[in-house]
Formats: sequence, C-alpha cells, structure tokens
Amino acid sequence: MEITQKDFGESTILYSLTNNNGITLCVSNLGARIVDLIVSVAGEKRNIVLGFDSAKEYIEKDLYIGATVGRVAGRIIKGQFTVNDKKYQLPVDPLNGNTLHGGAKSFESRLWKSRTEETEERISVIFTYESPDQEHGFPGNLKAEVMYSLTNEDEWIIDYQATTDQPTIYNPTNHVYFNLTGDVTKTVDQHSLFIDADRFAVVDEMTSVTGELRDVTDTPFDFRNNTSIEQVFKTNYKQNVMVDGLDHPFLLNQTGFEKPQAIVTSPKSDVSIEMYTDRPVVVVFTAQFGENSPEMRGTKMVSHGGIALETQVSPGAGVFDGFGDISLYPDRPFHSRTVYKIKRSL
Ligand code: GAL
Repeated sequence: MEITQKDFGESTILYSLTNNNGITLCVSNLGARIVDLIVSVAGEKRNIVLGFDSAKEYIEKDLYIGATVGRVAGRIIKGQFTVNDKKYQLPVDPLNGNTLHGGAKSFESRLWKSRTEETEERISVIFTYESPDQEHGFPGNLKAEVMYSLTNEDEWIIDYQATTDQPTIYNPTNHVYFNLTGDVTKTVDQHSLFIDADRFAVVDEMTSVTGELRDVTDTPFDFRNNTSIEQVFKTNYKQNVMVDGLDHPFLLNQTGFEKPQAIVTSPKSDVSIEMYTDRPVVVVFTAQFGENSPEMRGTKMVSHGGIALETQVSPGAGVFDGFGDISLYPDRPFHSRTVYKIKRSL
C-alpha cells in the first residue's frame, strides 16, 4: 500500500492511495473530495467516478462532484430549522427559497487541513475543517473531520466525526458519482441497481421532500431485485418526469456493515460497487445536468452520465414525522461510517 501526493493547482493537494491490488483512490483537500477511483477491469484501467483534472476545474464547474457536502446535505425547506427549541433562519437560494447543501460555497469549496495515516489494514487521509459559529447561519463552532481510507479488501471507507460547542444540526454526505463503464459519454441507464428500501420520500417540483413516504411496490422506484436503471428513465411516472430521473431519498430497510444496502453494477457486470452505511437513507441522484453537463477529463459528459449514492439522514429531518433527527449537541459527538466496496472481474 502506498500514499503519494502532488500539487493539484490553486494551492491544493492531490493524494493518491494505492492498495496491494492496484486500486488507486485520489482525493483532494479542496472540499475533502474524491477525484479518481481507478481500477483495472479485465486488464484495462478504468476511472469509475466522475471528476476533473485540476482544482481550477472544480472551482469553475463545481456541481459538488465527489465533494464532502455540509453542514447539511440536501434541501432545508425555506432555510428554516429548530434545535433546542430555538428557531433559525439560514440564507436561502433566491431562485427557490431553500438552502441546498449547507449554502452556497460551503464544505465543498473549503480548503481542508489534511494529514495521512498508515496502518496494517488501511491507508488514510484525514481531512479537518473548523466551521465557525454562524457560518452560513448555522449555530456552533463545528469541528468536522472526514477520513478516507483504502483497504486491501478493496474498500473505500468514509469515517465522519464532528463536535460542536452549541446545539446545532449536522448531516454531511459525500457526493461521489459512479459511472462504472469509465465512459462519461454513456448514460448510466444500462447499469443495474439494487437498493434495500421499501419506501422512498416523494419530492415536489423543486426537489424538496413533501413529507410523504411512499411504498416502492409497483413503482419504477422498486430496486429491491437489482434491476436496470433504465426502468426509471423510461417511464411516465410523475416522480421521474418531474425531476428527470432519480433525485430521491430511499429509506433503507437495514443499516450496518453485514450486508449491502445498495449495489450498482456495470452494464457488462464486470464491476460493481457495494454500499454499506450506518445512515438511515441513501439519496440517489442520476446526474440530470442536462445542458450544464460539464466537460471532464477531455470529454463532454452526457446528462445521466453518473449516479450518486449519498448516505445521510433524509432531508426533511426535524420537520416531518419519520424523517429522523439531525440535531448535534456538545455532549454527543457525531460519528458515522459509509463503505463503498469494489468488486470486479480481474
Ligand atoms: C444533489 C441534489 C440535486 C442537485 C445535486 C447537485 O444532491 O439532490 O438536486 O442539486 O445535488 O448538482
């Protein structure tokens, strides 16, 4: 196992972590993000996540690609929340009146402090960021840590930790997008998807949750039997048409590290990613960037050219019954883990 580092431009660092099976995970302190995940499949190298070649491109094109998202992933309706009986109003996006992904230019655009660590089992990069009290309107000085590890079991492990000095809310995620063909000119419609979820959260035209939790049975959002993603894109099901694909929280039937909660598999079944998490929800987003689809690594990406599996507590937490709680208190530090395990044909 080996860690190397190089300049990624704009005073940022790109770390490359390679395990004994030749898998390389590249991560940057710009937004504590994953930039590359390079695996060799049937003898050929393939980058199976979306990403850009330089920090400059991330700054110009953003779209949260591979970034750590916080303080709160997803939409906070009208930018309002209550914690410890106190009401807060965050700045909102004037276009839709909500606060997305912790507010404009948040965790994803920060320069995180970083250090590396190597043990027998894993090689890691540990990113830390101190978000001051009132940053983007959130109370509390928040110390956030995100550790990315690569193991010889071909796992990319994300460990989150945080502390606060005042009651606040916290709900981070990672915004990795997979395209297991390594070819961003192809949509992910021929990938297959398994999600161990009986219910999803219904969204409105602005992609905010409405408070309704719907049974997936007899809908194109039923992925309990590992089916092609095409089943969503091809239907007239209103929840698909309204947001042009998946941009929905799925409520996981189980959590933990015994069995995967989600699996994405390439069209030829030569690579798959198993997702394990202790979070109750995965928000699945199918990169419907339309005309805003960026050029990446020298090629223009197609709309639906990636799929993000964002583990978190559902947006709507603290507002709607059954959506969970994202309060964070000084005496109860935050810990969470998500694992993406790579399986492939050699
Ligand atoms: C997703 C969100 C999408 C979109 C995207 C960023 O997590 O649900 O609606 O905003 O992030 O491009």
